[in-house]
Amino acid sequence: MASNNNIKVTKATASKIGAVDFKNLEFGKYFTDHMLVADYADGKWGEPEVVPYAPICVDPSISAIHYGQSIFEGIKAYRMDDGRTAIFRPKDNYLRFNKSARRIEMPEVPERLFMNGMKKLLEVDNQWIPKEYDHAMYIRPFMFSTETTMRVAPSSSYKFIIICSPVGPYYSAPMKIHVEETFVRAVPGGVGFTKTSGNYAASLHPTAVAKEKGYDQVLWTDAVEHKYVQECGTMNVFFVIDGKAVTPDLLNGTILEGVTRNSVIQVLKDMGKGVEERAISIDELVEAYQKGKLTEAFGTGTAATISKISLLGYKDFIMNFDPEVMPWADEIKAKLTAIKEGEAPDSHEWIVYVD
Ligand code: COI
Repeated sequence: MASNNNIKVTKATASKIGAVDFKNLEFGKYFTDHMLVADYADGKWGEPEVVPYAPICVDPSISAIHYGQSIFEGIKAYRMDDGRTAIFRPKDNYLRFNKSARRIEMPEVPERLFMNGMKKLLEVDNQWIPKEYDHAMYIRPFMFSTETTMRVAPSSSYKFIIICSPVGPYYSAPMKIHVEETFVRAVPGGVGFTKTSGNYAASLHPTAVAKEKGYDQVLWTDAVEHKYVQECGTMNVFFVIDGKAVTPDLLNGTILEGVTRNSVIQVLKDMGKGVEERAISIDELVEAYQKGKLTEAFGTGTAATISKISLLGYKDFIMNFDPEVMPWADEIKAKLTAIKEGEAPDSHEWIVYVD
């Protein structure tokens, strides 16, 4: 497998960067000039290459399209004040990627391919990394099956690709969230803990129904009793109750093991704040709200960073939160951003430099 330095690079003949408004980066709108591609066949991974970003040609019968053998990750890289490029916790995403691969019966991607490929791509498209506060290069590694077949079976061939997109925050305003009791996202023993494409496809209709009612996203509840909260559309969720941060635990595999979720828990511990991972029932949230003890709600994710929730609607009961008075969310976001952007010490060795 190629090291970072000997990955073959074919440069784009012209750059698209001039067309990008770096002051108004809509999430996921722009893609950089290059992508990294590697193919798996005959039981092994071929050499990765950096090539110009372009449409890929696939056969209409590939099983990824029909049966959804497809997984992805989301990682961010930042431009440091000294000009260096810093990737935030890529190893954690790498490990989660292969966890998804195993559950979806796909081959694991070797660490060198994943990490060196990502670094090489960031080197080649380095001038695309935004400099503004809370902006970053969003890195999207993904893998899908490419065997041409109508049989429902693991594919014998796969494509691994990394693309990059300079981004601002995913959610630009505080969110209104509907506590979902009709549709479900994940069941114990299912694929809720993976980043497989079908999880996101299945969320689209429930989210559209919630949007018709005036909400932005749903907060999933457990599939058995609709009693315990799980996560929001594209984010894990935290609540501040009685001076402690609480977030649903990961115990039965129905919740995505968010890298930002894990970072927030660590930052809270570092700040000496109380934080608990445990089952949280919707009844507990309602009761705490009525007693004035539920003071903040926010989502966490690579794309979402820390996104405040201004309204939580459960049946006819509405819980309002003032996004201007969310000291926990503000402090966590400031602390985490400072670490990511190199303004605070990286005491947990979360940063990986490209150079
Ligand atoms: C991320 O936060 O990186 C995600 O993958 C969520 C995505 C659906 C935007």
